[in-house]
Amino acid sequence: MKKLALVLGFAMTFGTFQMANAQEAAPMIAQSCAGCHGQAGAGQGSSPVLAGYDAEDFVRVWHEFRANERPATIMNRIAPGFTDDEVAELAAYFASLQQGE
Ligand code: HEC
Repeated sequence: MKKLALVLGFAMTFGTFQMANAQEAAPMIAQSCAGCHGQAGAGQGSSPVLAGYDAEDFVRVWHEFRANERPATIMNRIAPGFTDDEVAELAAYFASLQQGE
């Protein structure tokens, strides 16, 4: 019984941790994009604006980068590093940002 309680306790703690992670993943991942795309997807240099990017377009473009079907110097190397779930979250996150915010 004691062991079962321990296992349950662990599962619950871990479950909560995972949930928190999923919700915070997009803003956290987005920090790794900011070095090139600017803070909050504002765009800088040759890295396009991501703030307000249409979520559907984002996912489509991402798959093109991943499949090497879209001209890219960098994104074709970055795109394979994220799961479809993460890409969907990133798409929703950047779509929710206002340009110039
Ligand atoms: C090392 C710099 C760099 C990093 C880091 C980077 N990008 Fe990019 N991104 C670019 C460049 C440059 C382009 C233009 C296409 C190319 O040359 O790869 C681009 C293009 C894009 C595009 C397509 C925009 C369009 O309209 O064509 C999207 C979407 C995008 N990046 C999302 C992201 C996301 C999300 C991240 C973080 C997970 C990220 N990028 C990280 C440099 C970067």
